[in-house]
Amino acid sequence: MGKTKKTGLLLFCLAMLLSGPGTSQALRAQEVRLDVPFVPTPYEVIEDMLRFADLKKGDILYDLGCGDGRIVIEAARRAGIRAVGIDIDPERIRESRENARLAGVDNLVEFRRADIFESDFSEATVVTMYLLPGINLRLRPTILKLRPGTRIISHQFDMDDWQADRMTYVPVDLYVHTVFLWIVPANISGTWDWTLDLKQKKAVCRLEVKQTYQFYKGLLYIDDQVVHLPEAKVEGDRVEFSAFLPGSDDIELIFSGKTDGDRLAGTVTVRQGQKNTRQAWKAARREGTSERIDY
Ligand SMILES: C[S@@+](CC[C@H](N)C(=O)[O-])C[C@H]1O[C@@H](n2cnc3c(N)ncnc32)[C@H](O)[C@@H]1O
Repeated sequence: MGKTKKTGLLLFCLAMLLSGPGTSQALRAQEVRLDVPFVPTPYEVIEDMLRFADLKKGDILYDLGCGDGRIVIEAARRAGIRAVGIDIDPERIRESRENARLAGVDNLVEFRRADIFESDFSEATVVTMYLLPGINLRLRPTILKLRPGTRIISHQFDMDDWQADRMTYVPVDLYVHTVFLWIVPANISGTWDWTLDLKQKKAVCRLEVKQTYQFYKGLLYIDDQVVHLPEAKVEGDRVEFSAFLPGSDDIELIFSGKTDGDRLAGTVTVRQGQKNTRQAWKAARREGTSERIDY
């Protein structure tokens, strides 16, 4: 276990003790079979979590293990969005509902008494959590299957080798808390085919992609000549890369598009010196090539 993770766990245990009824929390964990005891996120940290969430109209936020409902309530209060909290502890759900009523957002929020591992949160566009490293890891396969572009924000604990897209530190009293953001990447693994109008001819193109989480590398074949694409990032459902046409130093192809499963659609800009021409880009993934190794 890395030093940062150990410090995080230590901090979590200290926070549990300092947050008041430490022993009763431990007892409660046995009573209700909690995977994580209740430790509330300080409001200063929520500030940064919601900054990363960048909430907009139409977003739906889920807090997994919602405690007293504070993240759900703050999200609804500030952005006027729908927000859902899930907690296995009935006492927390009662508390959350009462807090939502007092904050005047009970029309926007919902609190469900349920186990996060048995809950469907696939409608979420934002997921927040303050759990534990092992619990984050157990949730990771489900999270990676959420809609591309969904923002995942974790207080304190990471996702092991799934590198965060952003991270920040929040000092509160004597401790420095960490906030992580991941954007769920679309799965673009596999082999993609399309044709392109190039030098008054149709060029046959193929892209072979190897993806690990949000990062991918590719081999781009243009009429059987090959270009290695340097490592790039899938931003939600957006894919962008560029390459110089093999055998010509001055013709650059810039691809920019979105994927919705086995299709990629967008534009290709062909740049030669000062001259730019644009054409539609529509690629299809070969059947049976989309398997990823990072689930
Ligand atoms: C560390 S607290 C975080 C509370 C809140 N999200 C916050 O950041 O202020 C973790 C919460 O997860 C809940 N919890 C633990 N195991 C759970 C499970 N399997 N399903 C749902 N909730 C769970 C606990 O009851 C507790 O309220």
